[in-house]
Amino acid sequence: MAAARGEFSSRFGFLMAAAGSAVGLGNIWGFPTNAASNGGAAFLFLYLFLAFTLAYPALMAELIIGRHTRSNAVGALRQLAPNPKLAKLGSVVGFAGIATVTLILSFYSIVSGWMLAWLLNSLATIVGWDAASAWLTNDGESRNAIFSVVFMLLTVIVISAGVRDGIEKWASRLMPALIFILVLLIIYVMTLEGAMDGLRAYLVPDFSVALQPGLIISALGQAFFSLSLGVGTMLIYGSYLSSRENLPVIGGLVAMLDTGIAFLAGLLILPSMYVALANGVEIFDASGALVAGPGLIIAVLPALFDTMGSAGVFVAFAFFVLMTIASLTSSISMLEVPVAYVVETFDTQRRKATYFLGIGIALICLLIVYNFATMFDLVVSVTTEYSQPLLGLFFTIFVGWIWKRNGVLQELQKGYAGAEHSFFWKIWPFYIRFVCPIAIAAVYIQLVFF
Ligand code: PHE
Repeated sequence: MAAARGEFSSRFGFLMAAAGSAVGLGNIWGFPTNAASNGGAAFLFLYLFLAFTLAYPALMAELIIGRHTRSNAVGALRQLAPNPKLAKLGSVVGFAGIATVTLILSFYSIVSGWMLAWLLNSLATIVGWDAASAWLTNDGESRNAIFSVVFMLLTVIVISAGVRDGIEKWASRLMPALIFILVLLIIYVMTLEGAMDGLRAYLVPDFSVALQPGLIISALGQAFFSLSLGVGTMLIYGSYLSSRENLPVIGGLVAMLDTGIAFLAGLLILPSMYVALANGVEIFDASGALVAGPGLIIAVLPALFDTMGSAGVFVAFAFFVLMTIASLTSSISMLEVPVAYVVETFDTQRRKATYFLGIGIALICLLIVYNFATMFDLVVSVTTEYSQPLLGLFFTIFVGWIWKRNGVLQELQKGYAGAEHSFFWKIWPFYIRFVCPIAIAAVYIQLVFF
């Protein structure tokens, strides 16, 4: 018999945990520069449209499976299957989700380790510790190895404390802090020269760029990654959600928080880049596109902080605290997926399972750190571009085609009296059966064959 399952103690706790999972490095790096290079506000509209018409229904699929089955990804999909063949398919999809999220966590910890190193660098700069600063900001293997392991340790500490005392407690503290720091930084950056040019690059729509088919597909991929879909994260958080909660409302709030914070991140990152430009920092790459990804966070922004005089180190400190929080609230949701599986399947103590898995994942991190050139990009693209959408497709198929429609409705009716007459129930089943699978399959075919 497995140990008693955890449950979030309040709606706020769940919201912070799920929004914490969703809001991560993806939102703060990917979204703003994507928007700026691809039609500004037009991309924003496209992204919002896809997030609410396709990603939100898929999010609902995971939440409802989780809450109904009260189980980890493998157990949950097996429970929904009406016969042994489909149960086997459920196991395969569940395991693939666990494997994918484990690999995502491995590369995510490396990048989050950079954030930690830069965070410490701002402290070292304040106290004038130059040798430490040089080591912390130099992209060396030993630094990357140490900080990815330290970051994994933080993740393990939170997860080993459990759903309420670990995930809920930390997400409820860290997410409000994240929003507070984000807003403060936006206000500060807006006062600097060049910020308005950044705002223009971000918010003036250019529909001719944003409506290209390739871009629609990448915006959909971004929305799926951003809402942590396809790998059982939202499923497992849903499995700790009280039956009294109204699922469509709570899922809608999570999607709104995620997209809202991505939008806010744009209000910070784009103006910051143009402030950097005004201060003489190069913000375009050789092809004329805005610098994105790692180059943005660990080259352009630090160069900007350097030009800010004495305020720069404090801004840098606040910024890397923000990034570390965003990473940690996402990484804990990733680790919870394999931990829940091991605890529930082998009746292991949570602490033991967490440390055991944490060590295993840290070893994968080290493997990637020491084979960075060959492995890093490969792991990122296999997991986020190939595996995640395909698994997302299976989750929607399980809810739309395998689980009995009446069973879905009954789960929805818990916490939502009259769900059967709602607008949600008129639209969503159709989306889950047809629109989501077809749209995801289209993304997939484009990715694999073109
Ligand atoms: N949503 C997170 C981000 O935007 C990433 C993530 C993916 C988290 C998959 C959990 C599972 O950074």
